Amino acid sequence: MIDDTNTEDDPADGWFPESVAAGYDSPGGANAPEVVTSAVDVLEDLADGPVLEFAVGTGRIAIPLAARGVPVRGIELSRAMAARIADKPGGDAVEVTIGDMTKTRVAGQFSLAYLVFNTIGNVTTQDGQVDVFRNAAAHLRPGGLFVVEVGLPELRRLPPGQDIVPFAMASGYVGFDQYDVVTQEFTSNHVTVTPDGRGRFRRIPFRYAWPAEMDLMARIAGMRLKHRWADWDRSEFTAESTKHVSVWERAPH
Ligand SMILES: C[S@@+](CC[C@H](N)C(=O)[O-])C[C@H]1O[C@@H](n2cnc3c(N)ncnc32)[C@H](O)[C@@H]1O
Repeated sequence: MIDDTNTEDDPADGWFPESVAAGYDSPGGANAPEVVTSAVDVLEDLADGPVLEFAVGTGRIAIPLAARGVPVRGIELSRAMAARIADKPGGDAVEVTIGDMTKTRVAGQFSLAYLVFNTIGNVTTQDGQVDVFRNAAAHLRPGGLFVVEVGLPELRRLPPGQDIVPFAMASGYVGFDQYDVVTQEFTSNHVTVTPDGRGRFRRIPFRYAWPAEMDLMARIAGMRLKHRWADWDRSEFTAESTKHVSVWERAPH
């Protein structure tokens, strides 16, 4: 039986309720020290004063960045995710405002705002994504920077008539994305089955946008592209890149 209900979950926490937050900090993957350090190195380098993380989650990036002496604040929709921050060593340095990054305002002006780990795609409308860029720009001082890390949609793997791209097939786990190239929406699907036959089906909606569309969103918000890298190692972004780390700058005045 595939069961995707969980009574501990609060619908206000969106796609990252208690049942997801409980396993979010598992070792490996995005939590591997080298993955975290590569992002923190770049963000520390770009910061020149207080910074703001949109969708700060459990503090995966914010806490190690704060540990380097950078003042970090966060906005986060899910109370279940944000609750993990205070429980971690150094988490008390990261003050979190619960709210929606498309519109929630935090007092102060920041040298840098950042939104990592594909989370721009969790906002599933173009208007909503424009609002994220506008809200980021509104928090920046003149000359401040907005950084987005996001994967590119795998449309080149879709032959005509097909809309599904599998990304994982292992014992007890199948993962696949399903694209709608008309709306630019896609769902990420995770099917997990345990040996006793119980399981879980998680289906998370996203919206993809090409880097050029994001540049336009940035322009609408009064920002211009400053850097576009293929990853946190600042390697060149090319036609073969599978993700981008982009940096836009708010007009200096
Ligand atoms: C993949 S996690 C990333 C968390 C953290 N930034 C990291 O790198 O580990 C996505 C996070 O975005 C949050 N989120 C999704 N939509 C949001 C929104 N509109 N406003 C604020 N947070 C949001 C989710 O609750 C979740 O904690």
